[in-house]
Formats: sequence, C-alpha cells, structure tokens
Amino acid sequence: MDLGIRGRKAIVNGGSAGMGRSAVQALAREGVELYVSSRGEERLVQACKEIADDTGAKVVPICADHSTPEGREKILAACPEPDILVGTCSPPPMTPDYRAITDQQWRDAIDISLLSPVEFMRRVIDGMAERNWGRIVNIATVAAKYPGEIRVLSGATRAALTNYTVAVSKLVAKHNVIINNLLPGMHHSAFVEVQFNERAAAKGITYDEEVAEFSREWRIAAERFGDCDDVGDFVAMFCSQQANYITGQSLVIDGGATTSIF
Ligand SMILES: NC(=O)c1ccc[n+]([C@@H]2O[C@H](COP(=O)([O-])OP(=O)(O)OC[C@H]3O[C@@H](n4cnc5c(N)ncnc54)[C@H](OP(=O)(O)O)[C@@H]3O)[C@@H](O)[C@H]2O)c1
Repeated sequence: MDLGIRGRKAIVNGGSAGMGRSAVQALAREGVELYVSSRGEERLVQACKEIADDTGAKVVPICADHSTPEGREKILAACPEPDILVGTCSPPPMTPDYRAITDQQWRDAIDISLLSPVEFMRRVIDGMAERNWGRIVNIATVAAKYPGEIRVLSGATRAALTNYTVAVSKLVAKHNVIINNLLPGMHHSAFVEVQFNERAAAKGITYDEEVAEFSREWRIAAERFGDCDDVGDFVAMFCSQQANYITGQSLVIDGGATTSIF
C-alpha cells in the first residue's frame, strides 16, 4: 500500500536506535526526507547512512539532545517546516521502589518524556496548520494507560503527554493536522537488550530465558517480546495520508499483555 507521503519532510527525535530507528526506516521506505536526532554521534551517523543506502531516501543526522532548549533549536534549524514529527527517547529508569525516586530523576523524566515533545508540538503545529497537512506521532509507553510500580517515571510523564496530545489534537484536526500516540509494551530494543542481559547475567541464565520468564510473569499473551519494527511500521501508518481521520488516539502494541475491550 502506498502511504501517500513521498516527498514529505519528517523530524524523528531519538532515531538512531530502537523503535525510533525503525520509524526512520519505515518512513524512508515511503520516500520521506528525514531529519534524525540523537545524542550519540557515531551510532546516529551509522544508522542514517545505512537507512539512506538501503532506501535511497535523504536521511540527515542531527547530533542533539532533544530534552534541552539548545538541542531543540539545532533540530528545528535543520528542518524548520516539518510535515511529520515523531518523538521518542530511551525509557526512563525502572522504579522498583517509588520512595527511592529522586527529585532529579523526576526532572529528567519530565524534560525528556513530556516537555520535549510538548515544546516540539508547540513549535511545529502552526506551520502544519497553515500548510493544511501534518502528522505527529509520539512513541510513549503502555504504562501511560496501564500504570505499573516499576514504570512510575515512564508512565506518569507519558500519561500527561497523552492527555495533552488528545486535547491539542481536537484543536487542529480541522487543519488536517493529525496527532496520535503509540503505547509499546516490551520490545527487543537496544535499551531492553542491555537491561535484560544484565538481569540474565545476575541470575546466571541467558537473555532468552530471562525474556521468557518476564513474559510469563507479566502475562504477555504472545509469550515473547515484540520487535522494534512492530512499532516503527505503525508510526509510518499513523503518518500516512490514509490516517487523515484518526486523531487523538493512543494505540497499545504489547502482544496482548494488557486487557481492555475497547
Ligand atoms: N523497549 C521497550 O520494551 C519499551 C517498553 C515500553 C516503552 N518503551 C518506550 O518506547 C520508546 C523507545 O524506546 P527504545 O527501547 O526504542 O529506546 P532505545 O533503544 O534506547 O532508543 C532510544 C533512542 O533515542 C535516542 N535518545 C535518547 N535520549 C535522547 C535525547 N535526550 N535526545 C536525543 N535522542 C535521544 C537514543 O540515542 P542516544 O542515546 O544516542 O541519544 C536512541 O536513538 C521510549 O519512549 C520508551 O519509553 C520502550
């Protein structure tokens, strides 16, 4: 299916690894021109080159921290009039003891998971509305909708983000600016591979055994973690021409771990 977005310009914040990288790949395959940010330069430049070579798309790396005002200015200077905005980051630290969360951890989580996407939306939406076309997708977390004690920093900040995006989406839908959120569960990203290799090593078991144990414990119906492309491909679909009548939605992609009839 042609998603009807060839030639559109996209900013993907946090696109050198994990689901962000999968989103860049999926949009590049559709002929979108990409401006991709991350903090680590080497992995970013490599990812952009690989995706450009693979798809023939223009993929521009921007080494910047999108949780800071300076980082945001650098990204917007490289692509001042995006048609598409995708936002993601690494998951905030897990929180086994809510009492141990520090003030600084809260501020960092709010800066990266809430204020950064809010600021980007504030800066790009008016232009999208004037051009009568825009797509925004935030890759958030299933914990925004289904709170869990180990995901307090990730879930609470994204619950605020989803609330904000739904409110704003109602104001701009008439200008063909479409805003949605994806809420992933457990996926084999760079971050998860580091975390679960450490957990496995501490127990003297393999990564696959630790993933299987976690999947049982958290009742993931698919009995496995997802791949990052499972999310990246849905980013492209939510950025498509065909998505023009879906807005203010938050889609859970978690292999059936959470249950709701709606
Ligand atoms: N993986 C999972 O199972 C899982 C589960 C639930 C929710 N999620 C959510 O899904 C999203 C993506 O997670 P992921 O596992 O794909 O993460 P990941 O593999 O760690 O990738 C995160 C990407 O964002 C970049 N990044 C992080 N902080 C940044 C910053 N301040 N400025 C610019 N770029 C930044 C990273 O590059 P640099 O480090 O070089 O900056 C990297 O490219 C997150 O919102 C996470 O909370 C993930």
